[in-house]
Amino acid sequence: MKIDFSKMYVDDDIRSSVIEVLNSGRYVKGEKLGSFEKEFAKFCGTKHSIGVSSGTSAILLALMAQGIKKGDEVIVPAHTFVATASPILFLGGTPVFADIDENTYTIDPSDIERKITKSTKAIIPVHLYGHPCDMDPINEIAQEKDLAVIEDACQAHGAAYKGKKAGSIGDIGCFSFFPSKNMTVLGEGGIVSTNSDELAKKISMLRDHGRKDKYLHEILGLNLRMDEIHAAIGRESLKHISEWNKKRREVAAQYNRSLDGLDLVIPTEKSWAEHVYHLYVIRVKERDKLAVYLNEKGVSTGVHYPVPLHKQPCMLADVHLPVTERCVEEILSLPMHPQLSREEVEYVCDNIREAL
Ligand SMILES: Cc1ncc(COP(=O)(O)O)c(C=O)c1O
Repeated sequence: MKIDFSKMYVDDDIRSSVIEVLNSGRYVKGEKLGSFEKEFAKFCGTKHSIGVSSGTSAILLALMAQGIKKGDEVIVPAHTFVATASPILFLGGTPVFADIDENTYTIDPSDIERKITKSTKAIIPVHLYGHPCDMDPINEIAQEKDLAVIEDACQAHGAAYKGKKAGSIGDIGCFSFFPSKNMTVLGEGGIVSTNSDELAKKISMLRDHGRKDKYLHEILGLNLRMDEIHAAIGRESLKHISEWNKKRREVAAQYNRSLDGLDLVIPTEKSWAEHVYHLYVIRVKERDKLAVYLNEKGVSTGVHYPVPLHKQPCMLADVHLPVTERCVEEILSLPMHPQLSREEVEYVCDNIREAL
């Protein structure tokens, strides 16, 4: 058997939506983007959403809209993809790394509190692997210290915290539609969500050369727009995202049952969380040996992420994060996508059992 780690979904509706755009002659700033933005905002439960060119662009724009500049500090987890923090450095700010909660792998609110200084301006909680962060204490700290909360929801389309969708709980939410994500535009794309009219207006302008009018640039912006083809595919994906997340949760439940009792740690879903299992991550001793064994049996796995951000050459920071540093040695992501069959999941689990 050969088990893919993740799998993209393409159907005839998606193909037709692309051809419709190609035939329309309108490739940027058309009605597909406007419709997608309205539909995504409804899905997310926010007043606005603004389509952009990637998840990285979404985070950069969110930080720009919050006025992050040289000397400002932004608190982020180190256990995440590099793009959570790289935009902070591009704006001249400093990412300040906080440790994670050992069960959910998301930022630990008590460590956020310890990392706050006079220069702190924002917090970026990351809903890693599709499990939401514990947002109430984060929002309380932010309110008390007057900090912006920018949710990195790039792995958490449709995840919920106490019934509220990821991306609708802080000041701004940032999503990626990269091909491997729960929801994708089958290329590069992202979206920003917010309930603030003011931030939405600013982000819309910032992603479009700071335009007020065609050749009147009121603020300094960039071209970080989403094009019509990707917006059209996004609209199609949005029709499936809830059903795909449901399937991911079923796959996770099967993994949980089959791996129960083995010498490994299965993912946690907090009582207040709706996990959407962008990744199904176990923790196991001798992780690398298990990955090699599974690979020999045709099972693809991954490590998300082997090197935490405070140890990355491009953003080295002299900080000790004990939970992060321990977890990254043991985490292993198993195949996870909505098209996985029961037999495939069982095959993965049988081989893990055998290896252990
Ligand atoms: C947690 C996280 N943040 C940010 C990003 C950046 O998104 P993109 O690749 O669309 O720029 C990703 C995805 O790659 C991600 O997983």
